[in-house]
Amino acid sequence: MRISVAPVPRQFAGTEPGAAVVMIDVFRASTTIVAALAAGARFVLPVADVEQAVKLAEPYAENEVLLGGERECQRIDGFQLGNSPREYTREIVAGKIVILTTTNGTQALAAAKDADTVLIGSFVNFGAVADAVAGSKAVTILCAGNNGRLSLEDFACAGGLVDQLAKGQLQLDDAALAARAAYRSLRTGLARVLTSTEHALLLADLGFGADLDFALRVDSLPVVPVLSEGRIAALPS
Ligand code: MLT
Repeated sequence: MRISVAPVPRQFAGTEPGAAVVMIDVFRASTTIVAALAAGARFVLPVADVEQAVKLAEPYAENEVLLGGERECQRIDGFQLGNSPREYTREIVAGKIVILTTTNGTQALAAAKDADTVLIGSFVNFGAVADAVAGSKAVTILCAGNNGRLSLEDFACAGGLVDQLAKGQLQLDDAALAARAAYRSLRTGLARVLTSTEHALLLADLGFGADLDFALRVDSLPVVPVLSEGRIAALPS
């Protein structure tokens, strides 16, 4: 298996046929998508902008669809849900279609849309994603980052995935080697370090500190979201 890591979306140069892409945005889009599907949402439609999200909701009945997402980490005016994974409970999302737009996560997904297989990964579904891509000949891990800059939480999560996969014959690019080294050096104090990253501190400051704890619960939601034809649904287990 060949593994490459794009530490920020602009370093993602597409993939070879048959390769899998894993998009990671730990705080918070990936974690929110996993939470929505784990709570029984039918599927998630990721879109890049707010206008597109509103338009996409139009053909659906009001009780069928939920608009979710954020700008500057806050719920968008007129949307029912923000981007806190804790909002996506069974009572609220079960059986619903979620249309989601976020600053970095859904943009990174747009960049990966032409890949053969696109999965969504985070710490909460870490092992399940590693199992799902274990048979692939090539995997590219695409870190969403933060407005074009590296996010340590995404890079460390990518490194953890590399670490889990790195058991057989592997070719790692330099970013994958660096991500794995970062993960290995952080893993004993993962929560302490990752709750001090730039985006974590901003979220905590805005009152979303509980989202950090939610997002750092490793393997708490073993659901694998897969993007296909514009929809994200859970891979049947
Ligand atoms: C994003 O996609 O930019 C993030 O998930 C931002 C956030 O923390 O809501």
